[in-house]
Amino acid sequence: MQDKKQVVFSGVQPTGKITLGNYLGAIKNWRPLQEQYQCIFCVVDLHSLTVTQVPAELRKNTMDLLALYIACGLDPDVSTLFVQSHVHEHAELAWILDTVSYVGELNRMTQFKEKSRKHADNINMGLMNYPVLMASDILLYQTDLVPVGKDQVQHLELARNLAERFNSRYSETFVVPQGLVPKTGYSIKSLQDPSAKMSKSDPNENAFVALTDSKEDIRRKLRRAVTDCGSEVRFSPDKPAISNLLTIYCLSSGESVEQAEQRFAGKGYGDFKSAVADAVIAMVEPIQEEQKKLLQDKAYLESVLKRGAESASKTAAKTLAKVYRKVGLVPASR
Ligand code: TYM
Repeated sequence: MQDKKQVVFSGVQPTGKITLGNYLGAIKNWRPLQEQYQCIFCVVDLHSLTVTQVPAELRKNTMDLLALYIACGLDPDVSTLFVQSHVHEHAELAWILDTVSYVGELNRMTQFKEKSRKHADNINMGLMNYPVLMASDILLYQTDLVPVGKDQVQHLELARNLAERFNSRYSETFVVPQGLVPKTGYSIKSLQDPSAKMSKSDPNENAFVALTDSKEDIRRKLRRAVTDCGSEVRFSPDKPAISNLLTIYCLSSGESVEQAEQRFAGKGYGDFKSAVADAVIAMVEPIQEEQKKLLQDKAYLESVLKRGAESASKTAAKTLAKVYRKVGLVPASR
């Protein structure tokens, strides 16, 4: 008998513009996983509601992100691609997991604290509950591996803790997932402040490159990117801004750090930044073209979502039924 493939689950919020950080730290690394694992990639729209959204924009961003997934090489014939709100079990399992989550541990989450500071007028329960919903996404599919960037590692740790806590309280129910964090690109930094991560919610548009940015915008943003003292293009802790640009260059072009350092030896930051822009443009242009094409075929995208939701629902319903049984809920007679 063939061994069952391990399950991979990951997702991106359809909030604002998807950045180079999201791509290099996450989506780009998902494509090769499809060859080896049973992959489930979700557009996590319910998560987006934790900050105020314009409904029409959320709807557009959701379809844009689905098209982007496919344009980045996620294949709906091989992987399950779906929208979180289409599978109601996500919200339902989150409720059960809430009952084994402690207010103290959620209060301590770095992202909750950061977002509470940023959105001081809207510290809603969803913002605090967010990592529990993320745990629900992961645990519903009995996920083995979760490919994410570094900023999600703390949330993943909570998902592991909740799985272990539930298992020990109610007997073995969930697979305890492992994180899959890339060796490079796990934290792409802001182009304006290399001590902060590149974030799609950054109010300063010069701080990030969006995957949908025009060539001109990409060139301008990289030209304006902050640099470090000196003029040498070298990967080093005392050169955080240049190291970040080198990481972006290497991941976009496929060159190693050593090759890149050699290529730019004796050249100034200006030449280097323009080469980074060239590499980024060469990487994102085909994705942009493919995404545009896909967005013109609404019927196709809807069929992908329908198929994805049907497939995801099967596993999700099975896990939720098991969980309801374990905690002592009486099954509904049908
Ligand atoms: P989100 O939408 O903020 O980011 C999506 C993915 O991009 C990674 N990422 C980065 N990687 C490197 N450098 C950066 N500057 C950078 N910025 C973002 C994130 O680590 C993430 O992998 N809570 C999640 C979405 C989510 C999820 C899940 C992920 C919901 N449920 C279940 C995995 C499994 C989030 O807000 O990601």
